[in-house]
Amino acid sequence: MSTDVAVRQIDAREIAALRDQLADVLLDCVEGGASVSFMLPMARATALLFWDEVAGGVARGERTVFVAEDGEGVVGTVQLTTGLPENQPHRADVAKLLVHRRARNSGIGRRLMLALEDAARAQGKTLLVLDTANAAAERLYARLGWQRVGSVPGYALLPNGEPCDTAFFYKPLQEQAMQITFETPDQPAVHALIRELDAHLYSLYPPENVYALDVASLCAPDVLFAVVREPDGTAIGCGAIVIQPEYGEVKRMYLRPQARGRGLARRLLAALEAKAMEHGCRSFMLETGPTLDEALALYERMGYRRRGPFGDYPDHPTSVFMQKDSV
Ligand SMILES: CC(C)(COP(=O)(O)OP(=O)(O)OC[C@H]1O[C@@H](n2cnc3c(N)ncnc32)[C@H](O)[C@@H]1OP(=O)(O)O)[C@@H](O)C(=O)NCCC(=O)NCCS
Repeated sequence: MSTDVAVRQIDAREIAALRDQLADVLLDCVEGGASVSFMLPMARATALLFWDEVAGGVARGERTVFVAEDGEGVVGTVQLTTGLPENQPHRADVAKLLVHRRARNSGIGRRLMLALEDAARAQGKTLLVLDTANAAAERLYARLGWQRVGSVPGYALLPNGEPCDTAFFYKPLQEQAMQITFETPDQPAVHALIRELDAHLYSLYPPENVYALDVASLCAPDVLFAVVREPDGTAIGCGAIVIQPEYGEVKRMYLRPQARGRGLARRLLAALEAKAMEHGCRSFMLETGPTLDEALALYERMGYRRRGPFGDYPDHPTSVFMQKDSV
């Protein structure tokens, strides 16, 4: 499960300390046939030299590097390249998204990309570009809202020397036109969102283990309720915080599938937390499902940590409890 894997940004010194593990991941991907600049046979020294050069780029402020680590060490990595010409200050390239074959298909690639996109936004970047010759990577980028520009035939070589096509993608990071506003939940568009969220949860868990608040409960005065709207006003997501004496409880976080991968859930949760803090909330709790990987990854990225049950919730395998204390 990718939730047992931690994703974090590392500096040049940490790259030097982890260079053997990073080299292992690069070698594994090249040996697995990935077209990521290198040919077979690839010497270990070549992989180590590559990471030394990356560490140099990080030290010069031209690169940002993330790693994913499980109990055995580094299982994945990705980089943001910002050392671009002076006429492209708003742009960055994504490079070397690598996940070791032993850890694939558990959401690590997705989590690395989301962490990288958050970092790019934090650096003020508004446009990201990448290229890939990998079908799994193409699907991943498309799911995260990247736009495919097209494919250049025979652009590069696979590690075994065969020519391969390469597809180019871009993703605008600006979402200024998107609205997050505090509104009454008692409106048809919100009823529809809540029905979709409930249908999803009841398809996954037994009804007695789904602790869903209905629209009537969400209308209570101690509930902060926010709606995410497209620039044309269409409601595409929602979330709530119930203000309790000791903490605020995050509930009903939902984004329609087509609205995902654009950093909106993060913005929504940040807006809810900020509003709750205006009401004196300094601690946040939530209960969620153990198989809701996207939600669990979001909460972890936003600083929530797992804990035991709180309030009236029973301890049950279909519940994960998390807490975040603000400073
Ligand atoms: C491309 C790459 C980075 C993807 O990494 P990954 O960690 O496997 O990516 P994810 O787990 O996020 O997604 C991969 C698949 O697993 C699925 N998945 C994610 N979480 C899952 C889970 N908990 N259970 C089952 N499947 C899951 C995804 O839906 C996706 O399915 P798809 O391939 O049918 O589209 C990896 O294949 C790789 O390193 N390839 C070699 C290097 C390379 O070519 N990199 C691209 C450079 S541009």
